[in-house]
Amino acid sequence: MSVHISAERGEIADIVLLPGDPLRAQFAAETFLSDVTCYNRVRGMLGFTGTWNGTRVSVQGTGMGIPSISIYANELLRDFECRTLIRIGSCGSLQPDVKVRDIVIAMTASTDSSHNKLRFGGNDFAPAPDYGLFASACRAAQERKLAFHAGGILSTDTFYQDDPDGWKLWAQYGVLAVEMEANALYTLAARAGARALAICTVSDSLVTREALPPADRESSFHQMIELALDAAVSG
Ligand code: HPA
Repeated sequence: MSVHISAERGEIADIVLLPGDPLRAQFAAETFLSDVTCYNRVRGMLGFTGTWNGTRVSVQGTGMGIPSISIYANELLRDFECRTLIRIGSCGSLQPDVKVRDIVIAMTASTDSSHNKLRFGGNDFAPAPDYGLFASACRAAQERKLAFHAGGILSTDTFYQDDPDGWKLWAQYGVLAVEMEANALYTLAARAGARALAICTVSDSLVTREALPPADRESSFHQMIELALDAAVSG
């Protein structure tokens, strides 16, 4: 039991996939796992455990943004001793060659949030994924011939920004895409000595203003989950 997750110890697997949307957690568990049980309904932030090719895997919704994913990541790492956390999310492209439906595997996660400035007394920490997970996700994406990009992403605190061109500075520095959680996930996993990775499908583009309707996101969501499962068990 923890504050936001009503499971008993042992009910959550060592490997946890983390979509922002709890209904996507349910969809991923029901589509990819067998012998699925739901271990959490607190605040509607659904969590499920099942097996994938004989390996126990959980899928836990995190909500949106650094404060929300930080709550779930902290509790999974501290109270349930989960050791492999893989975010499966969506992101907005900041580069012309990163197209909607493509997959981005996050090699770094910059942020405009002050959460790590607070944590490190004004200094900067460089959050990074676990190399084994990252390399194995890239290898699996190559083998599956997926349209993917490996590089830096931005975890922003503001989905709706006052300055409509604010993203262009990050783009100039080669940042591929923007989402709202990876920087915190990488930081908290590092502190716990655990492994983390963020994989995102591109749901919209700040460059072209294109946005995929939710129904169209499903096939790239499938590819991303398979990639995450492959990376988790082999990385
Ligand atoms: N901004 C922030 N987070 C996102 C976006 C975006 O455009 N798209 C998907 N997640």
